[in-house]
Amino acid sequence: MSQDVSNTVLKLNSGAHIPQVGLGVWQSGGATVRAVAAALQHGYRHVDTARVYGNEHQVGQAIRESGIPRAEVFVTTKLWNQDQGYDSALRAFDSSLKRLGLDYVNLYLIHWPVAELRLESWRALEQLYKDQRARSIGVSNFLTPHLKELVASAKVLPAVNQIELTPFLQRSETTALCRELGIALEAYSPLTRGERLAHPAVLEIAALVQRSPAQVLLRWNVQHGAIVLPKSVTPARIIENAGLFDFELDASAMARLDGLEEGLVTGWNPADQP
Ligand SMILES: NC(=O)c1ccc[n+]([C@@H]2O[C@H](COP(=O)([O-])OP(=O)(O)OC[C@H]3O[C@@H](n4cnc5c(N)ncnc54)[C@H](OP(=O)(O)O)[C@@H]3O)[C@@H](O)[C@H]2O)c1
Repeated sequence: MSQDVSNTVLKLNSGAHIPQVGLGVWQSGGATVRAVAAALQHGYRHVDTARVYGNEHQVGQAIRESGIPRAEVFVTTKLWNQDQGYDSALRAFDSSLKRLGLDYVNLYLIHWPVAELRLESWRALEQLYKDQRARSIGVSNFLTPHLKELVASAKVLPAVNQIELTPFLQRSETTALCRELGIALEAYSPLTRGERLAHPAVLEIAALVQRSPAQVLLRWNVQHGAIVLPKSVTPARIIENAGLFDFELDASAMARLDGLEEGLVTGWNPADQP
């Protein structure tokens, strides 16, 4: 078994503790139950799902079947775009809880900064936080302008901002603002969805530290203080992606990775969202 990932936690501005590695389950499809079960068996205590992934039910099932106490697993889900708005967000949250089979989530996120509706949606999340049905609330795909607009009127600051984050896409302005505001960063698509796992610099650093390219990319985010959400349905990779806390990248390896910025967006790009 890999290093105990469940012990590696960060404290959010809500006071809650979040394991720094979470299993992503976007596109895990029919393999979701098996993937979550394998992750929990190998020490993961954090799962990142969303309404739109269509597998909240399977995530809840795997957690229940694991026999691990609910209080020990950190569960995130997200408000989908079509459900944004105050009342509809509250209704969507109820439906997500029902599918998960839970009576609270650890983290509820606005999935995408839908113009005109995101501030109203945030008010709904603040209510869910007040009621403690969402123990922490946050946003996803919010870049600097979206964050500035939100914090100007928010009563509760987001606990996290989940964005695509890799050496090849560093979003420096947004990450600096999050650090300044005390908003934790969650890195999605931290393995570049496979697109840069064979990059020569990543391969060389991996050979130097005798780790896999995936572990190098994940460790880079971990050393910058971000939470990482690698997705895999392959047990061996699920284990590998959690083996991040028994090695270090030295300053020169970090500097080399820091130098790889190329604006690589592998999914949707919130920079296009007014
Ligand atoms: N908030 C958002 O808008 C947003 C957007 C995208 C993603 N996310 C979250 O972030 C999670 C991760 O992002 P992602 O799914 O886009 O991509 P990712 O984690 O960067 O990459 C996943 C891909 O890498 C493969 N892989 C996993 N571990 C590997 C390893 N050790 N070596 C080689 N290949 C490996 C997986 O294959 P196998 O599964 O076949 O092993 C899969 O094809 C998502 O599942 C989701 O929870 C959020």
